[in-house]
Amino acid sequence: MTMASRLILITIFISISYVDCVQTVNGRVKIFIGLTSGCPNARNFITSQLVPAYAEYGKFLDLEFVPWGKTERHENGTVTCQFGDNDCWANRLQRCVLNHLRGNPDAQLQYMACEYRQPYPAFQLGSFQCAREAGMRIAAADFCVNNPQIDTLDEEAEAKSTDPIEIIGVVPSIVFNDNIDVSTHWQAFRRLASVVCFALADDSSTGVLGCQI
Ligand SMILES: *[C@@H]1O[C@H](CO)[C@@H](O)[C@H](O)[C@H]1NC(C)=O
Repeated sequence: MTMASRLILITIFISISYVDCVQTVNGRVKIFIGLTSGCPNARNFITSQLVPAYAEYGKFLDLEFVPWGKTERHENGTVTCQFGDNDCWANRLQRCVLNHLRGNPDAQLQYMACEYRQPYPAFQLGSFQCAREAGMRIAAADFCVNNPQIDTLDEEAEAKSTDPIEIIGVVPSIVFNDNIDVSTHWQAFRRLASVVCFALADDSSTGVLGCQI
């Protein structure tokens, strides 16, 4: 074996060990994505990482989007969001629409992809365009956005986001199978499809092979 091929093998081995930290549960991988509407890194992640990874491996994935980000709740009951009032409004709309689309993961991803690509309809334009395209009536979406006190969507999102934000510290926060882990988060942020592929390839029941780093 030449020095070069030995080096290549060592590199591959190190890289595989490096990404080999996510495992399937019953042949599936659960991915929590904590995000907030105005966040550029969340936009990049959804567009460049999540959409292509889901196109390839979606049938093995259980996605959970939690649009809450680094929102803070104050003692007087008001909340402030990382990117201001538009961020709060768009996050609330997203919680409403995701709830409306619960049980339909393909539609949820399609909806979030719509909100997180130009022109960022909810955040930038205050528009219901993506909600409407997702099949939610505007009157229903508007009612949900304006009546947070009659459901528990905000409280649930806040509770689910607290630990990921505290431990990972950034938005988006990516968590696999409920194990909050900073290095896995960064792996997924840079090359989600690869992380998912190695997890699936490690489980022969999936039939997935040939992962690329
Ligand atoms: C609520 O508290 C926050 C943080 O202290 C403050 O910025 C905001 O102006 C307060 N809002 C109201 C309506 O009192």
